[in-house]
Amino acid sequence: MSANLNQTNIEIDDPNFQALFADLQGNILKGHGRDDSRHIFFRFTGNSDENCRWVESFAGEVTSTLAQHQQILSYKRDRHHQLFVNFMLSCSGYLALDIPQKYWPQDKAFRSGMKDLQVCYDTLPRGDHSPKSNPLNDDVQQWESAFRNRVDGMILLAYGGDSARETRQILDDKVSELKKQLAGIAEITLVQAGYVMRNEKEQVIEHFGFVDGVSNPKFLFSDLNEEFKNGGYSRNDPSASLNTVLVKDPGGDNNSYGTYVTYRKLQQNIKGFWKKLDLLANTLSELGQQKVDAEYAGALCVGRFKDGTPISEQGNDGWSNLFNNFNYDDDVDGLRCPFHSHTRKTNPRGDTVRQFNSPPTIEQSRRIVRRGISFGDKNLNPDSEWTDAGLLFISLQASIVDQFIFMQHTWCNNEGFVRENTGIDPLVGQVLPGENIQPQSWPGKWGNGAGKVDFEFSGFVRTLGGEYLFMPSIHFLRHL
Ligand code: HEM
Repeated sequence: MSANLNQTNIEIDDPNFQALFADLQGNILKGHGRDDSRHIFFRFTGNSDENCRWVESFAGEVTSTLAQHQQILSYKRDRHHQLFVNFMLSCSGYLALDIPQKYWPQDKAFRSGMKDLQVCYDTLPRGDHSPKSNPLNDDVQQWESAFRNRVDGMILLAYGGDSARETRQILDDKVSELKKQLAGIAEITLVQAGYVMRNEKEQVIEHFGFVDGVSNPKFLFSDLNEEFKNGGYSRNDPSASLNTVLVKDPGGDNNSYGTYVTYRKLQQNIKGFWKKLDLLANTLSELGQQKVDAEYAGALCVGRFKDGTPISEQGNDGWSNLFNNFNYDDDVDGLRCPFHSHTRKTNPRGDTVRQFNSPPTIEQSRRIVRRGISFGDKNLNPDSEWTDAGLLFISLQASIVDQFIFMQHTWCNNEGFVRENTGIDPLVGQVLPGENIQPQSWPGKWGNGAGKVDFEFSGFVRTLGGEYLFMPSIHFLRHL
């Protein structure tokens, strides 16, 4: 029997999926779980034949979904650490390898690249912009040079050893080895380090200090079981079928699948963010009907308190687990969790069904798999603004156009989503460079429509660069 991509809740040892999982790269259906990584961006310089031979030889080092599972078992058995490796290519990478076009991944955005100005304007519902910028409203001129220039591919290395020193050593040694291997084949244009930050409860956080990585589509039975223990899924079903994230790899064989990768280096202005939250809290306390602090204002921006408590569930933090079993059915007017809050923009949990009468399956099909990691300075209280700190945002999806771009363009950047005058996502919403931003409307009191306050909140996350990539099957990498 062959694999069914509509299936959810799959056991990792299901015999129908063994061939697929052996050929599929790891970190797609389940995060690799290591706390440190290196993202090695490269541009081919050799002739296409030499380039292909090197990729074929490197394919043996790439961690498959099954190998990742074996690594987890071996770690549980004897705490044995192993390196994790992903390999991905941009469209220019396919070109540099001289792969015939019929074997290229199809997605329009992948084909054009993230810097492109025109891509998919025709396919997006808000065709109101002239292409002064890409559909994400990025100011590409401000990007780091490694991303303004051609990126052919990226190797992701991840490791979590017994000590920080051991981890650094293993990763640095591997980067040096790669540099040697790539001499005459490719130029390494950037080695980007990423690391997981944790709070006092050992939960993963991002640089503004909020627990992150709580809500993600879940493919495997074991992961759904974890979510079940954490509060169930009667009000939000996190299970997703494989076709949320996988597409057939046109360059592979019958069991070959891959995923599209969105990579964005997002710098965070921590000091500026919290200063503005103080101002928002003061304004809400003066004009609204409730005295609030910056932490509460932050929860209105994010949709969850710093400890992960959804603000749609209660007006203060303190939820004891990483709760994800909620929707906005009891907050249809956005009076607890504003419509513009980051989590509500990026996962409306039923708002589009109510607002546009569109089927829940369409809203669910927009979901992305987040596998990002932080970068830069670990200090969450820096003295100055725009320090070297932020998120290496990585999303995986079956369609860049219908999932990531739709989410960023049609939801986060859209002042009219989900209703007129909602405003942009205060965390990651972007308007065209130089365009005015309309204030968002904030509930003056939790769950109460009286005393709404207009206040513009944006501009504390800046894109330093990125690219669209494809993570192909291992069969493809082995048979160029
Ligand atoms: C959720 C922070 C960028 C999509 C979250 C959460 C936090 C967060 C704190 C809540 C925890 C969770 O549910 O996992 C950030 C920061 C960003 C950033 C600081 C930039 C520096 C993005 C971008 C997108 C995105 C660019 C996509 C356009 C999502 C999604 C969720 C989420 C889909 C889950 C929402 C849900 O299912 O309830 N983010 N994020 N994030 N974020 Fe972001």
